[in-house]
Amino acid sequence: MTSDELRNAYLDFFAEKGHDIIPSASLIPHGDPTLLFTSAGMVQFKDYFLGRTVPANPRLASCQKCFRMTDIESVGDASHLTFFEMLGNFSIGDYFKKEATAWAWEFVTERLKLPPERLWVTIYLDDDESFQYWKDIGVPEARILRFGEKDNFWGPAGDTGPCGPCSELHYDFGEEVGCGKPDCKPNCECGRFSEIWNLVFTQYNQDENGQRTPLPRTNIDTGMGLERTVEAITGKTSVYETELFAPLLERVARLCGKKYGIEKETDVAMRVVAEHGRGITFLIGDGVIPSNEGRGYVLRRLLRRAALFGRRLGLDRPFLTEVARVSIEHMGHVYPEITQREDFILKLIEVEETRFEETLSTGLELLDGITADLAKKGKSEISGKQAFKLYDTHGFPVEITREIARERGVTVDEAGFEQEMERQRERARAAHKFELKGTVRVGDSLDIKTSCFVGYNNLECSSTIVDLLVADKSVKTIKEGQEAGIILSSTPFYGEMGGQVGDTGEIIGSSGRFSVSKTVRVSPDIIVHQGEVIRGSISVGDEVKAIVDVERRLDIARNHTATHLLQMALRQVLGEHVQQRGSLVAPDRLRFDFSHLEALTREQVEKVS
Ligand code: ALA
Repeated sequence: MTSDELRNAYLDFFAEKGHDIIPSASLIPHGDPTLLFTSAGMVQFKDYFLGRTVPANPRLASCQKCFRMTDIESVGDASHLTFFEMLGNFSIGDYFKKEATAWAWEFVTERLKLPPERLWVTIYLDDDESFQYWKDIGVPEARILRFGEKDNFWGPAGDTGPCGPCSELHYDFGEEVGCGKPDCKPNCECGRFSEIWNLVFTQYNQDENGQRTPLPRTNIDTGMGLERTVEAITGKTSVYETELFAPLLERVARLCGKKYGIEKETDVAMRVVAEHGRGITFLIGDGVIPSNEGRGYVLRRLLRRAALFGRRLGLDRPFLTEVARVSIEHMGHVYPEITQREDFILKLIEVEETRFEETLSTGLELLDGITADLAKKGKSEISGKQAFKLYDTHGFPVEITREIARERGVTVDEAGFEQEMERQRERARAAHKFELKGTVRVGDSLDIKTSCFVGYNNLECSSTIVDLLVADKSVKTIKEGQEAGIILSSTPFYGEMGGQVGDTGEIIGSSGRFSVSKTVRVSPDIIVHQGEVIRGSISVGDEVKAIVDVERRLDIARNHTATHLLQMALRQVLGEHVQQRGSLVAPDRLRFDFSHLEALTREQVEKVS
């Protein structure tokens, strides 16, 4: 079975079981600031699990592009990847453990025809219910193992969100693979066992403090690693031996004139180049642009790591576009976005890699100087300040400094580097500190109730005063002439967010009137109305009318619509790679930032407008 056949077999199987097939979401999670990347199939369904929205069908299945940074240093061994595909079936408050386990078993043994004697099951410590289901299916008790939180509790993806105990299916590649110890079993790191499918019994929502509360309903979230499963069904012992990587490795081998499978160090470097080359193709395909922070930094780091390993293979000229080309050729039929954006992906890689070649030369020269100096002084540690300077001034990622240092037998003062980074973050934080014109500051300690935004359909509503803020203190009453922030139980006022300015208007109670000059969303659930009492007084608990300035809101709405039109026109004229990078939407004007590698010509500007 090929990877294409596996994808189809999985989705067909779950379609037969009443699931809607949902296309893969972008690697950039939509509307989820808590996550850097889509790291699992469930990410696009988070709101369903949390009960915030309801899907048309509670049974869903997908093949999701995923990206995880956690294993980047291990990439190059037999199994670790940054970019991978996850097959998954999901139940939103519909079926639970019994069906999930039965269908998983049916699929792997009957459709994939994996020999049952090679399959092992792990369950969460006290999950006797799952134990019984697996036993009833026919899995021998000796091959059902119990593990704790580390192995058999999944989630949340990011710091908060849906999570639950899980049960995993592991494939045994056989005694001849791995450590050979008599007690070797699933979760041994030796490579004999591979976790191919994780069934999560999603029952909790975890908050910032790690507290778990039960979700409205019990759910199923599963994840089958496509690459690992192809490896198991085709009898290979590394994901890099599968047809998913073979063409990439072939191209890398041709480029550097070396053979794959002869020498360990060369193989590792070739795998890193192939894996990262594929990863950056998909990241750029989904709109990530190299930068010095966040997603852009991850992309930059991946690209630079690939370039560096390429150097070890003797590739001293930019070559990564070639790896990207092969990725697109072999995966574009599954993920058409990379084909549509091929030109942009290749161009961006070329620009970034060429720039890095220059950085690398300067950085290596500086590092040479630093290490020679250390040797002279009889020292063996690069200081935090030096590593930070290489990073901050010369764009030399610390991971690369670390890797080169290791090769030369010196270390990096990690704590010192971290301290410098923290100082820099502190400076950035100070610059961005959230300020409400000096009148209202929402301190971390304030226990503020949430506000419900009803303003998509209403520009006026009845509400209750939940909290009043003066400076950064909560007060009970505010009087005429006083500046304050008001939090309402529900509000039609749009809070400034994502570049769209907030609403203005009035809040009117039986004993006073408040003019709202600015509305700010300080967290996903808290909207602060900032302004001044213009008559009487306002107190916590007052019933009020909240009224948005309609004309101004309509102006903002028109400019908001115009950003969408502009984006569409830019795509038509410049190409599908155009992505929104930021925007400002105000009543009197709009600004739209977008990704494109060159300045627009006069002709293009005219065409767009
Ligand atoms: N969300 C689960 C995982 O990523 C299935 O393993």
